[in-house]
Amino acid sequence: MALYNAKFSSFGSFAPKKVVNNFDLEKLVETSDEWIRTRTGMFERHYTSPDEAASDLATQAAIHAIESSSVKYKDIDLIVVGTVTGDHAFPSTACIVQKKLGLKDIPAFDVSAGCSGFLYSIDVARNYVENGTMKNVLVIGVDILTKITNWTDRNTCVLFGDGAGATIVSRAGKNEISHIIDSAIFSDGSQGDLLYQAAGGSRMPASHETVDKNLHTVYMEGNKIFKNAIRSMFASTDEILRRNKMEAKDVDWIIPHQANLRIIEALAEKLHVPMNKVIVNIEKYGNTSSGTIPIATDEAIRTKKIRRGDIILLTAFGAGLTWGSVLARY
Ligand code: ACO
Repeated sequence: MALYNAKFSSFGSFAPKKVVNNFDLEKLVETSDEWIRTRTGMFERHYTSPDEAASDLATQAAIHAIESSSVKYKDIDLIVVGTVTGDHAFPSTACIVQKKLGLKDIPAFDVSAGCSGFLYSIDVARNYVENGTMKNVLVIGVDILTKITNWTDRNTCVLFGDGAGATIVSRAGKNEISHIIDSAIFSDGSQGDLLYQAAGGSRMPASHETVDKNLHTVYMEGNKIFKNAIRSMFASTDEILRRNKMEAKDVDWIIPHQANLRIIEALAEKLHVPMNKVIVNIEKYGNTSSGTIPIATDEAIRTKKIRRGDIILLTAFGAGLTWGSVLARY
């Protein structure tokens, strides 16, 4: 039973400086601007420099979100970071962000759910706020996939970019219109081998052989993931709308994970939603994994597309396999 409503206080985002476009990638692998644009909708993406790590991007996005809200640093009760490319296997990136923000004596932990990491983290935050344990949870989605990319594999290396987005999930006042209506998360571990990083964990620790064989990079069966993505994002949006007695036409903005424009268009078609109600920025960022949804939401708020009171529906899928949706009145 929820004692309180949770709401999104604010969003923030950060992308590293370096921008790489399709023509730059033509020089790296056998590909073309035309193939990448028509098959994925991507044109540019941001890449970190060698000395930047996930916590650097995450901290900048967090500062952006905190300073866009009325929440003070000292009022943050918990930090949750969705990522699969943290600074280290341990400690968690959330603990490193805590140190960088100068916050003491609060819990901080990471959530591993592939590209669904941000939505999984919102689900966690929402529960803590609704049950009264926490008042303000800093939620961050960050990934640096370019550091686990196989630069000789044209099937994957053109897809990824780096970035971070953040939100503060706060307790909403009794009469406040802004609130998270519902969230729903799912997984299917039996399909985990469609998208994974083989080496670097306890199953296959780092060795000269794993490095030589490129086993520390993203392995993905693109076609199977493509079909799963459409099916699972549709299933979770349909479920969350049905159980709240709403229809897709009641939603002002759909903010889907940005992995492929064709996936996003297929989802919109299945939901009978026109593309002008779907937030898309894939042409500028590529797939930033856990970063895509908070970056797209932040941009849409800053450009005044999304306004207070709008109904927003966030939906993601990723490695695990994992997927889910969050329905909110912003
Ligand atoms: N440039 C030129 N040709 C290419 C490229 C490229 N970059 N990549 C693949 N091709 C070729 C293939 O080799 C193949 O050629 P062939 O027919 O001669 O063998 C042809 O293009 C078609 O390949 P497909 O794999 O069928 O292409 P598809 O249309 O499925 O697009 C893609 C591939 C973009 C990867 C798509 O399947 C996709 O977006 N899948 C989902 C990816 C995704 O959503 N990932 C999410 C999670 S990522 C994460 O969590 C880390």
